[in-house]
Amino acid sequence: MVAAGSELGFGKVFTDRMLFAEWREESGWGVARIQPYQPFSIDPAGMVFHYGQAIFEGLKAYRWQDGRVALFRPDMNARRFNQSADRLCLPPVPEELFVEGIARLVELEREWIPTAPGTSLYIRPVLMGVEAALGIRPADRCWFYVVLSPVGAYYRNGFAPTSIRVEDRYVRAVAGGTGEAKTGANYASSLRAGLKAKEQGFDQVLWLDGKEHRYVDEVGSMNMFFAYGDTIVTAPLSGAILAGITRDSVLSLARELGYRAEERPIEVGELLADIEAGRVTEAFGTGTAAVITPVGRLGYRERTIPVGDGGVGRVTQRLYDTLTGIQSGAVADPFGWLRFVGK
Ligand code: COI
Repeated sequence: MVAAGSELGFGKVFTDRMLFAEWREESGWGVARIQPYQPFSIDPAGMVFHYGQAIFEGLKAYRWQDGRVALFRPDMNARRFNQSADRLCLPPVPEELFVEGIARLVELEREWIPTAPGTSLYIRPVLMGVEAALGIRPADRCWFYVVLSPVGAYYRNGFAPTSIRVEDRYVRAVAGGTGEAKTGANYASSLRAGLKAKEQGFDQVLWLDGKEHRYVDEVGSMNMFFAYGDTIVTAPLSGAILAGITRDSVLSLARELGYRAEERPIEVGELLADIEAGRVTEAFGTGTAAVITPVGRLGYRERTIPVGDGGVGRVTQRLYDTLTGIQSGAVADPFGWLRFVGK
C-alpha cells in the first residue's frame, strides 16, 4: 500500500521490481530483464567501490486522473545519461533500452504510482563498472539497472521557501572536470559544505565557480534561477554545471508564458546587491526531484539576505503550476514533452 503524499518523503520506499542489464567488453549488452527488486552481489574489488566509476539519472512518471501514465522527457535523460557515461568511460546504453526498458518497468509497477498532488514515481537509472580489479582503467564489465520509488516532495516542507548558503571556500566542480556529468563523486564532495550550511541554519549550498569563486554555478540538487520582475536569469551551461532537464523546461515554459528568460553569468556581488535593492524579486531552484523550489533567503559570509518578501513569488508560483500541470495532465502540453506508457 502506498502512503499519502506528505508521508512519502523522498526515496525511502522502493517498488517490487527492477530493470537489469549487463555489458561485457567482449560481447556488448546482454538481454535486459525485469526482475524482483533485490540486493546485488559484487566482488569487494569491484571497481565502482574504489574508483567511483558510476553515473545515474533521475526522472519521473505521473499517473493521471484518466488512468494514463506519463513519463516526462525520458529521451532527454537517455541522452544526458550517455553524455555522463562518455565522461566516465562507461559504455553507452542504447536509447531504446533506456527509454523502452523504463516504460515497460513503469507499466508493470503502475499501481505503485501515487496520485496525491505533489507525488510521482521517481525513476533512478544507474550504470557502474563492476569488474573486480585494482588497476585504474575503465571496467570491462558494467551493470545498468533501474529502480523505482514513489515520492512526495524532495524538501521536507514541500513547495515552501528554502534557505541557501553561498559557499565561498569549497567548490563543487570546474569546467573540464565532472561537474556536468551525473556522477556520485560530485555529490560526495558536496557533503562537507552541506553539513556546514546545516550547522548555520541553511537548507542547502549554492556553489560558486571553481576558479574565481565569483559566479553562481548551481545548488547540486537544483539549478538556480533569479527573477528580475518578469525576466528570469540562470547561469549558462559552463561545463561545470549539470544541464538540468527541468532547467531547460523552465526556460522554454517561461518564454511561452511571456516572460524573458536569460542564460548569463551571475556575479555573486552584483546578485546580492540586486537582491538587497529589490531588483531581484524572486529566487527558485529547478530539478527533477526538487521540481521548482522557492528560495526565501540567501546567506553569504556573515550576511543573511531575504529574497523579495521571503515567500513564494508570483513568477515562481506560475511556473510551478504550469509545469506540474503539464506533468499531471491538468494543463495541455504544447511541447510534446510527455511519453505515455503502455497502450
Ligand atoms: C534529481 O533531481 O533527480 C537528482 O538527481 C538530484 C538528487 C539530489 C536527488
